[in-house]
Amino acid sequence: MAKTDVVAGLDLGSGKVTCVIAAPDAEGQGMRVLGGASVPCRGVKGGVVINIQDAARSIRQAVEKAEAQAGEMVHSVYLGVRGAHLESYNNHGAYNIARTDKEITQEDVTAVIETAKAIPISNDREILHVIPQGFGLDRQRGVPDPVGMEGSLLEVDVHIVTASSNHLNNLNRAASEAGFEVLETIYSPLALGEFLVTPEERDLGSMLVDLGGQTISVIVYSEGAVRFTKEIELGADAITRDLAIGLQTHMPTAENIKVEFGVAHPSLVNGSADVPISFKGLDGRTEKQVRMQVLTEIVLPRVEELLTIVGETVQNSNYADVVLPCGAILTGGGAMMRGFPDAAKQVLNMSSRLGLPHSGIVQAPENLMDSAYSTALALVCYPQTSMSRASGISRRREGGRWVRWARGLFKDIL
Ligand SMILES: Nc1ncnc2c1ncn2[C@@H]1O[C@H](COP(=O)(O)OP(=O)(O)OP(=O)(O)O)[C@@H](O)[C@H]1O
Ligand SMILES: [Mg+2]
Repeated sequence: MAKTDVVAGLDLGSGKVTCVIAAPDAEGQGMRVLGGASVPCRGVKGGVVINIQDAARSIRQAVEKAEAQAGEMVHSVYLGVRGAHLESYNNHGAYNIARTDKEITQEDVTAVIETAKAIPISNDREILHVIPQGFGLDRQRGVPDPVGMEGSLLEVDVHIVTASSNHLNNLNRAASEAGFEVLETIYSPLALGEFLVTPEERDLGSMLVDLGGQTISVIVYSEGAVRFTKEIELGADAITRDLAIGLQTHMPTAENIKVEFGVAHPSLVNGSADVPISFKGLDGRTEKQVRMQVLTEIVLPRVEELLTIVGETVQNSNYADVVLPCGAILTGGGAMMRGFPDAAKQVLNMSSRLGLPHSGIVQAPENLMDSAYSTALALVCYPQTSMSRASGISRRREGGRWVRWARGLFKDIL
């Protein structure tokens, strides 16, 4: 296997950094995942690097652990980005085919997408993705692929994602300092949507909700395209905080209680309302107890608030009236709380399901078929997916600045 074929998907979450290593499969159609690992992440908050050295150290730990499982070393990574500094717009572009030969070429498609990039952005921001939503030819809309067709006026609707250049540079620098070449920086939820939302769900209308620790990402799909993306600066860590305050205990204890006993829907408390849960108080010694009923009374209002904000975000967008018959596809650690799909169904008033990796979408070792790996799996598969190929323009870095030996160089100081 050519070493350059082995690549990694790197997901820097607020709580953990996850790395998945993969290579193209034998048919060259998809990716075969060789290994992966997840380690606690330091130096990242709400998707933004706040300490480059800490973030670089976490990245190196995750990649080295993933390399041990994969039995392969990796030099190049697809890096995920998310956070409130990401913004998005829809725009339109038009391009006249002024030749006598009117057959549309791939160059014409690239040119019309370029015209659609003309949006006013401040000089501390940059365009991360330009995703075609649909083409038009001589005023006929809904042309899926105009290449090879004849026409005089080529039009395109696009969804544009922009990001803070400084935050992007810090993220890339953390990966570079860890010793890796960044092949592409990808807005993670886009990759997740390609991975977890089926083509039919994207076509008929659906919504992806990624409930992370400190960020929620929302994507609305309709007619096969990304229509709306939004980053919300809030996440499931808020539930942990509520529990720590409500139960007067430390955050790690509150986190354990949340993951083990937390439920997102009242129907799951039935019969266990009086079950006592033991934990240590703030002094680390005093044994305390809380009944399941009381625990749920702390958790449920926050679950409802998080989902209400998701619903309001879509309601306040231009896509409030778009019908989403396929409902919400839920991912991220926060969505793993028992009963979360039921809560989403009720609050968002639409069908809801968990989006989980499975063998129908990726070949991977069994231990990686877990929601915790979804984003890293999605990132490593994204460049091979159809929407990525159609995305025309995304941020690619000049490669090769940092290679494997550089990691040895930094080993001692990281
Ligand atoms: N089984 C579970 N039940 C309830 N909550 C869970 C469970 N697993 C993880 N979580 C919560 O999910 C959150 C972390 O989600 P995730 O791993 O998707 O976030 P992240 O990617 O690290 O952060 P972000 O994307 O916001 O930067 C934490 O609040 C964690 O407590
Ligand atoms: Mg995440």
